[in-house]
Amino acid sequence: MSARRIVIAIDGPAGAGKSTLARRLAERLGFTYIDTGAMYRAVALWALRQNMDLTDAHRMEQLAAASSIDFRPQVILNGEDVSAAIRTPEVSAAASTVAALAGVRRALVARQREIAASTSVVMEGRDIGTVVFPGADVKIFLDADPAERLRRRAAETGASPGSLAGQMQERDQRDRGRAESPLVQAPDALYLDSTGLSLEEAEEAILRVIRAKTSNGKEFS
Ligand code: DC
Repeated sequence: MSARRIVIAIDGPAGAGKSTLARRLAERLGFTYIDTGAMYRAVALWALRQNMDLTDAHRMEQLAAASSIDFRPQVILNGEDVSAAIRTPEVSAAASTVAALAGVRRALVARQREIAASTSVVMEGRDIGTVVFPGADVKIFLDADPAERLRRRAAETGASPGSLAGQMQERDQRDRGRAESPLVQAPDALYLDSTGLSLEEAEEAILRVIRAKTSNGKEFS
């Protein structure tokens, strides 16, 4: 493999299939998989546990800067495996709130850039192709119909689609409407609608783009 480090950026709304696809692609390419949403969730979890005011921008920034977050691939916050604890509806809502704060984003974006300085990555989130790595080698904007995204999230979490609908819509609106790094497609990102695609089909579509864009793809299989 060439020594040059590669960044594959995958952005899109919740339930579009980013995590599953990004994880599979990273495994296939031998790259490091980074779920940046888990970083915002980890900071939110820590703040909730300390009963902190999630809208206190200064304290939230301090918390984000002080947090230690590792992927092994379990999500480790300050030495504790929080992989399950960060997936509750309460943490989902809190993550979306703290992710709107510029200082929190600054602290976590710096970490994301640090990770990619030493290894090739498949990084997924909301702002990877627009803010974190505007020069990413490959950018994918992964989307799906709202009803399908809801169905997938319900299947993942075991909750009923009805109980998730309002919450997911609210979170989508907050992520797209915020002033700081809103969820938006980068002009040079490939838009992929995964609604009617199987996991394998979506994976192949992305691999084709990766192969086309990176040294003829010879080093990737
Ligand atoms: O992808 P997710 O649902 O785990 O993300 C949790 C929250 O963090 C979600 O509301 C969007 C936000 N987020 C973000 O603002 N920027 C990222 N790069 C990743 C996630």
